[in-house]
Amino acid sequence: MNSASLQSASTLPTHLAGEMRSNHAGETGAVWIYKGILTVSRDPAIRLFAEHHLATEQTHLGFFEDWLTSRQKSLLLPLWRLSGFMLGAVSAVGGQNWVYASIEAVETFVVKHYESQYAALDDYGDATLTAAIHRFCSDEADHRDEAGGETQARSGLLKAWCWVVGVGSEQAVKIARRI
Ligand SMILES: [Fe+2]
Ligand SMILES: [Fe+2]
Repeated sequence: MNSASLQSASTLPTHLAGEMRSNHAGETGAVWIYKGILTVSRDPAIRLFAEHHLATEQTHLGFFEDWLTSRQKSLLLPLWRLSGFMLGAVSAVGGQNWVYASIEAVETFVVKHYESQYAALDDYGDATLTAAIHRFCSDEADHRDEAGGETQARSGLLKAWCWVVGVGSEQAVKIARRI
């Protein structure tokens, strides 16, 4: 990606700056989800899945990391790292089905989150930024579909866990938009 043609992040209107702060926080969490999985899981299929996804999440994170000013980033990054790591580690303790179901739950939320920014991005009119967010969203949809395709029947406990993951992601984004 040619980030040189991006407008400076300091020109972002307040609303979009909050959205981008939540994107940076979310991609931080995503990287740490896979670190959590890779710390716990010895399953070769899960490790391969996590390594591939981690590489993509690192490119997403790198974009926001390099572009946003330090003052535009969330003050709660240690919390987003810890939350991501715990989410990944707990799901990996549950095994393959828990990992796939958890990733599907997270990515289902992330796709909606990115899509909710499209109208504001069109108004802002930075084609490079718009293209980047669309590409990230398409990557997340691939992650969602890949994980969803592997998920088997869900126990009641796993359904409850996925609900917690979805609601937790939503609340985290609400907070990260502000701080
Ligand atoms: Fe991502
Ligand atoms: Fe993803």
